[in-house]
Amino acid sequence: MKVLLRNIEKKGYTADIKDYLASEGYQALKKAITLKPEEIISEVKTSKLVGRGGAAFPTGLKWEFSRKSKEGPKYVVCNADEGEPGTFKDRQILEKDPHLVLEGMIICAFAIKAEVGFIYIRGEYNHAYEVLEKAIKQAEEKNLLGKNILGSDFSFQIKLYRGAGAYVCGEETALLDSLEGKKGQSRVKPPFPTFVGLNNNPTVLNNVETFANISEIILKGGKQFSQVGSSACPGTKLYCLSGDVNKPGVYELPMDITLGDLIKNHGGGVKGKLKAVLPGGVSSSLLTDKDLGVTMDYPNVQKAGSMLGSGAVIVINQERCMVDIAKRCIEFFDYESCGKCTPCREGSKRAREILNNIAGGRGELSNLELLKELQEVLYDTSRCGLGQAALNVVVSALDKFPDEFKKHITKQKCELNVCSMNKGGNV
Ligand SMILES: Cc1cc2nc3c(=O)[nH]c(=O)nc-3n(C[C@H](O)[C@H](O)[C@H](O)COP(=O)(O)O)c2cc1C
Ligand code: SF4
Repeated sequence: MKVLLRNIEKKGYTADIKDYLASEGYQALKKAITLKPEEIISEVKTSKLVGRGGAAFPTGLKWEFSRKSKEGPKYVVCNADEGEPGTFKDRQILEKDPHLVLEGMIICAFAIKAEVGFIYIRGEYNHAYEVLEKAIKQAEEKNLLGKNILGSDFSFQIKLYRGAGAYVCGEETALLDSLEGKKGQSRVKPPFPTFVGLNNNPTVLNNVETFANISEIILKGGKQFSQVGSSACPGTKLYCLSGDVNKPGVYELPMDITLGDLIKNHGGGVKGKLKAVLPGGVSSSLLTDKDLGVTMDYPNVQKAGSMLGSGAVIVINQERCMVDIAKRCIEFFDYESCGKCTPCREGSKRAREILNNIAGGRGELSNLELLKELQEVLYDTSRCGLGQAALNVVVSALDKFPDEFKKHITKQKCELNVCSMNKGGNV
């Protein structure tokens, strides 16, 4: 059963509004404006939809918080920053079925009483930006956006805002600061954006995929939506399969699929022999072949010691060196740290130095304990998820593949094909 890619996979389907309208498009909005806002929120709560951006917060509850918070301006913000390495699912929807996202946002605006919405879009997504620009214009022309939508007293406009390449700006509060024209740095939470968001007003901020689920919930009902997938996380999910896999791509599957099924039966199996998997991009911890039976929903991946995040499933084969992978991941976090809090700013730098030394054959055994200590400190004291997750790959690699680190430290030759030591260790 496809919800998110149902249109995209139809032959000849384009992002033009005429194709969306011919596929039940905006019927959910037509239905929604005949309902009371509370009824819409109740339907979303019944669906048990949880946010697809990583934190898995119940969407209906988020909408209810904003709806019930202080009177005055409220905002709807769509997080289309998609900066997690290995994630490329939102782009599919934005480029190929933009009205699915717009419709979800408009219904949300009606439910929480917002008049203005923003799509914060990754700076590099030029094509998606142009597609959205056209889609917004077309929706305005059809009176699906703008003043007195479909002849009602409900008015709502959507504006586009381009990011400038900072990973941290995908974090909801850094995104809001950036949207307000400030430097994109995370705020202290609480208060959460649902209460104190854009310009200090209540704001619903959801991921592209989250909004894309809304029309289905309103049209078919929350109960029907909740019948698919796992009981904890109903619905389908877009999994981004990449790395050493035969058929990389975006797969929409019910959230009760197992990791093994996803890789083997949908991704065409591993290229080579499986060594490890990152189920939620470089912010998650490594899983191994022992975890192939894990159900790919949020609580089960967490129970297995990792996290699903936005669903960036990166497959790693036996030819790759874990020290090399750990080093590259921490380089990313060090580079992307916004620098606002000391543990993340300094800790990621220190971890990067240590891993650079280990990878280059200049490490010490005591470094391994230090890395674990650093992870604890960063997890406990960093202000946002970037710092909290910065050493997940590193420490899970240390736990699951300690010999590879020790080999590098004792300057034995690393026999793996993909390893910086094989390039002379000069890193
Ligand atoms: C460093 C960092 C980067 C993030 N990047 C994104 C992103 O690109 N897109 C996204 O939707 N959520 C991202 N998130 C999660 C958001 O903070 C937030 O939880 C999410 O957008 C809420 O929407 P949802 O409830 O629909 O999942 C990121 C979080 C962190 C800590
Ligand atoms: S944890 Fe890192 S990215 Fe997040 S606010 Fe602190 S310094 Fe910035």
